[in-house]
Amino acid sequence: MGERVEDDLLGDEVVRDPQTFYGRIRERTPVHWNARYHSWLLTRYDDVLIGYRSPAFSAARTGPLEERPEMAEASAVLSRWMVFTDPPEHTRLRRACTLAFAPRRVAMLQPRIAALVDELVRPLRPATEIDLVADLAAPLPALVIAELLGVPTSDRALFTHWSGELMTLVFGSLDRADRHERGRAGLLALRDYLAGVVAERERRPRDDLVSVLLADGTLERDALVSTCILLLFAGHETTSGLLGNSFLALLSHPDQLRVLRGRPDTIDLAIEELLRYDGPAKLSPRRVAEDIRLHGELLRAGDRVLLVNASANRDPRRFAEPDRLMLSRADNPHLGLGYGVHYCLGAPLARLETRIALTATLPLLPRLELRSEQATWHRSLLGRALRSLPVAVGA
Ligand code: HEM
Repeated sequence: MGERVEDDLLGDEVVRDPQTFYGRIRERTPVHWNARYHSWLLTRYDDVLIGYRSPAFSAARTGPLEERPEMAEASAVLSRWMVFTDPPEHTRLRRACTLAFAPRRVAMLQPRIAALVDELVRPLRPATEIDLVADLAAPLPALVIAELLGVPTSDRALFTHWSGELMTLVFGSLDRADRHERGRAGLLALRDYLAGVVAERERRPRDDLVSVLLADGTLERDALVSTCILLLFAGHETTSGLLGNSFLALLSHPDQLRVLRGRPDTIDLAIEELLRYDGPAKLSPRRVAEDIRLHGELLRAGDRVLLVNASANRDPRRFAEPDRLMLSRADNPHLGLGYGVHYCLGAPLARLETRIALTATLPLLPRLELRSEQATWHRSLLGRALRSLPVAVGA
């Protein structure tokens, strides 16, 4: 067994600066047992890759929830999320979505995303103080995923609220004692809401993702509604995290921002580096499916494992000068979007949205004065996202 210490993964200091904490573990105990969370932490790049690749690690992890009678309905929905299943069921669920996320289909969203970004960025100019999270990073991905799915954008306040409640359950925000109850309520409200949207599209198909999934016909109704919830949830919580973290990284590195403004054509490389440097998917959880030995430690079937993407992405064994933000970094096989069969399905959409949003805000950024001491982070086990990022707009 590794060092048995009570590490609070959601302590204020670790939430604010996870890199110092995970970096220490990465160097001392690469396979680290965390007694508080009953989990093994894998923090080195090569070990996280093993976690993603090896069948000894399973993505199916809703079991503990299924054992709680009051969570039965919620776990029935979550157990159909592709991200919580292993092949062959995973293959079936994911395949049904490949058409909907084909690069050509995602690229068709470009003009609509650009218009949404414009609507959000234009009013930012005359303000004296803005919150880059509340004013841009949070609303944009919610609007985009609503459009993509075919959910009325006017219902945004409703579904972002439910999705925020669900985040406490799925992303493990332990600052809320009632996280199971709130997460359950948010999930079931989303289920009923999206079941209504699906029924409506069945009667009157449109050119949206729900209609594409219905036309595909592979998924039975429950799986289809579960998939829509997953897409709505995954499609906005993470992308808003990336946007917020990227604004903070760019404003904290004026030299890098200057280079990017001079070479806006390098934006795609920059986005990969922003995903590596401070991406929003801090950890990916797994369960050990069969006993496996790693660095001398025996991980037993059933044990929980946290693949720490954030730490793998700063592993000096894989990245040169890992703690430096280098927007032109070329050798960058980061794990910010996961790896393997569960590699982020929405990656092309996340990249497109981020490219459009950052490109539109680049001219504004040098006039923004960071109030970093006022930036606050969500207390989330899996996610790394700012709650707010207040900035002053200069002349
Ligand atoms: C910057 C934004 C995003 C980040 C950092 C991100 C990150 C990730 C990561 C790390 C995984 C792997 C999880 C695991 O292996 O346990 C994942 C899977 C997934 N993501 Fe994303 N994601 C982003 C945006 C999106 C968007 C926009 C969508 C959809 C509209 C989306 C949909 C999904 C889905 C459906 C999966 C599950 C894929 C599977 O299990 O096969 N993501 N994402």
